[in-house]
Amino acid sequence: MPDTFLPAPLLTALQDLLGPSGILTETSDTQSYCTDWRMLYQGKCAAVLRPATTEACAKAVALCVQYGVPMVPQGGNTSMVGGATPDTSGKAVVISTTRMNRIIAIDHADLTMTVEAGVTLKAAQDAALKEGLMLPLSISSEGSADIGGVLATNAGGNNTVRYGNARELALGLEAVLPDGSVLNVMRKLRKDNTGYALRQLLIGSEGTLGIITTAVIQLQPQPRSRETALCAVQNTQAALDLFATFRKQDPAAIQAFEYMSGTSMALVNSLIENCALPLSEPAPAYVLVELASPRADDSLRTLMEETLGTAFENGLVSDAVLAESETQRQALWMIREEHAEAQKRAGASVKNDVSVPLATIPDFIERATAACENLIPGIRVAPFGHIGDGNIHFNLVQPEGADAAAFLAQDHAMMDTVAGIVRELGGSFSAEHGVGQLKTYMMPSWRGGAELDSMRKIKAALDPKNLMNPGKIFPDAE
Ligand code: FAD
Ligand code: MLT
Ligand code: ZN
Repeated sequence: MPDTFLPAPLLTALQDLLGPSGILTETSDTQSYCTDWRMLYQGKCAAVLRPATTEACAKAVALCVQYGVPMVPQGGNTSMVGGATPDTSGKAVVISTTRMNRIIAIDHADLTMTVEAGVTLKAAQDAALKEGLMLPLSISSEGSADIGGVLATNAGGNNTVRYGNARELALGLEAVLPDGSVLNVMRKLRKDNTGYALRQLLIGSEGTLGIITTAVIQLQPQPRSRETALCAVQNTQAALDLFATFRKQDPAAIQAFEYMSGTSMALVNSLIENCALPLSEPAPAYVLVELASPRADDSLRTLMEETLGTAFENGLVSDAVLAESETQRQALWMIREEHAEAQKRAGASVKNDVSVPLATIPDFIERATAACENLIPGIRVAPFGHIGDGNIHFNLVQPEGADAAAFLAQDHAMMDTVAGIVRELGGSFSAEHGVGQLKTYMMPSWRGGAELDSMRKIKAALDPKNLMNPGKIFPDAE
């Protein structure tokens, strides 16, 4: 009998239900499910359950409820806020969706994909591409993050500026609720005003209200032309002005508009293979802009060249490189997508995934940089992000050669310093990564009163025993 907190009858019932490959109990097998991508948390679990169907998942949840066992839903385990990591008690089970991995259907009339939760975002994108369609959600972790995870966190990413967050893309949903019942709202309707939109309650609930098992996702026709450019700019204001210039020309053409500070770009150039700066010299900041169009003619190229030409003349852009092939386009995107990995390699970092009104971004970056440099001399302020959405990853990397643990011990001081400025500007302390366990302490002061109270009532109504991802979103003590 393996060494686990699970009562013997429960363990036997789960083994009978899930089969040998559906339950892991040895620490050597469960360890990777108990550590997060950032390696901030090291939890423990009684077992990892890997149901292959919604029915098995529902039965496993009902059994766990019967025995009072806490459950931690997990997809690709790429959470930036420890959302999918169990606590250290070892009493919870991780419920992994990786075996629910079928693409059920692609509907060309409705432009939808019906897909199980454990399909990685990349696999879903590739399946759409094969059919001449596009799943317009793109994040750097898409090779590991799965459909259940991106919906549970309402992921944003590079194409939000054009197509919205995961929330805007989901038409239908199936989920196992915390009592083991199955909520089936698998409709593919663009219009459906029949009471509460329960799928939206599950989306962004970070595993606290149930386990998403299947979804209907909206697709788009694959663009027939695309133009991608990396531009050097003098400062954040110039990046914003460039965004406004493109938006004025053709707002519907902007597929992505990403900002990278000089500091964060330099980390990528020096720490990641094949990511040298493809411009003649380093600049204070950069923008990666991608335009896309359903037309196959060269109008997009003209739009890109003319807009950048004007931007050069106005002094908004000092240098730029345009992708001349798909290989070059991917090389430019790799530079953007490796930002998180480069910062991980540079040492400990504190992430402030904030959003502020667009016009305030330059003020925000200037003030937050000064405040953090004042707080920790030598700190590497390395912001980047989805500037077209007002979402800046105001990430702080430890001073070179500093002690990582000592730096991380000051994480609340750094997060509170940044958050104070964000609050004054009318922003949010978490734009896309969620609350998880890392930022629960911020909830009472940011989302207190009727807002947090209503969230608690919803949680208590659906999960009265607080067994579904306990310790996430809600602070234990206030
Ligand atoms: P997990 O990490 O496994 O889980 C995340 C949360 O969702 C947890 O609370 C978990 O309990 C819950 N959960 C997982 N699956 C389910 C399910 N089936 N049902 C219910 N709850 C579930 N995020 C962005 O929004 N935009 C970005 O641009 C972005 N870039 C990233 C880049 C890197 C390199 C990394 C490591 C992360 C990035 N993230 C980004 C954060 C992360 O990838 C996303 O939050 C992603 O959506 C999580 O998916 P996952 O499958 O890994 O979920
Ligand atoms: C990204 O957009 O690459 C991630 O969300 C950012 C991060 O590392 O904070
Ligand atoms: Zn991001």
